[in-house]
Amino acid sequence: MFYNDILSMNYVDAIMIVDQHGRIMYSVRYNPRFDEHCHDNEYESIINKNFLEVYPSINPNESTIIKSIKEKKPIYINEQAFIDYKGRPIKTQNLTIPIIRSGKVLGAIELSKDITKIEEKVNNNIKFKPVNKRNKVSHKAMYTFQDIITVNQYMLDNIRRAKMIADSPSSVLIYGETGTGKELFVQSIHNYSSRKDKPFVAQNCAALPENLFETILFGSVKGAFTGAVDKPGLFEEANGGTLFLDEINSMPFNLQAKLLRVLQDGKVRRVGDNKERKVDVRIITAMNIEPSEAIKQEQIREDLFYRLSVVNIRLLPLRERKEDIPVYIDYFIKKYNHKMMKNITGVSKEVEELFLEYTWPGNVRELQHVIESSMNFVQHGQIELIHLPVYLSEKIGYEGISEIDNKTIKDFDMELSLDEVIEKTERELIEKALKKSG
Ligand SMILES: Nc1ncnc2c1ncn2[C@@H]1O[C@H](COP(=O)(O)OP(=O)(O)OP(=O)(O)O)[C@@H](O)[C@H]1O
Ligand SMILES: [Mg+2]
Repeated sequence: MFYNDILSMNYVDAIMIVDQHGRIMYSVRYNPRFDEHCHDNEYESIINKNFLEVYPSINPNESTIIKSIKEKKPIYINEQAFIDYKGRPIKTQNLTIPIIRSGKVLGAIELSKDITKIEEKVNNNIKFKPVNKRNKVSHKAMYTFQDIITVNQYMLDNIRRAKMIADSPSSVLIYGETGTGKELFVQSIHNYSSRKDKPFVAQNCAALPENLFETILFGSVKGAFTGAVDKPGLFEEANGGTLFLDEINSMPFNLQAKLLRVLQDGKVRRVGDNKERKVDVRIITAMNIEPSEAIKQEQIREDLFYRLSVVNIRLLPLRERKEDIPVYIDYFIKKYNHKMMKNITGVSKEVEELFLEYTWPGNVRELQHVIESSMNFVQHGQIELIHLPVYLSEKIGYEGISEIDNKTIKDFDMELSLDEVIEKTERELIEKALKKSG
């Protein structure tokens, strides 16, 4: 049956390899439809991310990758519908095979065939109900400044400044790497302002299909295009409150000009409408690259940038505020002790040293997940190295954690076989160890 399944998959459009934690190690798309609008930097941006982060609409309980890793067996499914990280609905047939060495699952390889039909694409854009928050418009701000933990002077200053401007109508731009707390800051600002009882509307711009952007943001009127209905956009929904546009640098350039106009006039015009509507909305935006970089790479219009960043808040990556690491260790252990009804007392000296040395590309979110994951394997006492996710504990004993850190399959010579890659890596590591020990 297995061979029949492979045979029925008479061609392959995409291949993805993940490690046992679901981190994408390799991804290639052969189908031009998959590749549409896909640039090299987007490829870079998905490597090393968890696949659930890249395909947020996939329900972890239904994921073929997770199932195949858990059950250590190949999974074949006829149809999987999901939304990719650019917000495009996709339907695929997948064959997922676990990678097993000495009985241990190292990851999985997934072969996919794109079966999205063009007309379905259009319909699904409207009908599809994503399950993950990334694609869902959120109307609730839960966090307050009390949830933002830090002892770093610069970050404390950020909190102080954010409180000062919470009630001002000025636009705020928050930037920082993934997991540094941008969402936390945005929600806290809203909840600290006099708009706190008014709507808080959040939209991730990277999750919106380009053709729907304008209607979602500004609304539409019946007859504007085939299937168009009378519908308010996010601006109208956020009226009186705050509109949070996350990953603003993913907004199409031509729409950025329209957004600028709305910000200047305080009026929106629904698509297909001839009248303008006045809106009172406080705009907060966020992005995870430096503004100067975003401008240089033409991801954001300079004029819009100045309009959006009347107030600017830069969140430091965790590796630039190491004094926060022990604080988060305590904070998250307490949090999960409570949740898991455990009494873990802390982390061992080796774990703390590793945490202080590691570069934390996923920042606070990654540290939080590492602690949560480890606490599942400790009954009492401390979190030791053996309780950590393998990708972290593996780093112990190697010199230059940060160097190995970002190394992925894409850095290796793709001409080599897997055995050769392993051999090459082993050689590099041994040479390093020899050098270190003199
Ligand atoms: N200063 C902090 N204090 C306490 N928890 C934090 C802090 N910063 C981040 N976190 C934790 O990390 C998680 C991720 O933070 P948040 O969603 O705000 O990151 P982000 O910068 O918006 O990341 P992304 O760019 O990936 O959207 C939060 O849900 C929270 O649990
Ligand atoms: Mg965020």
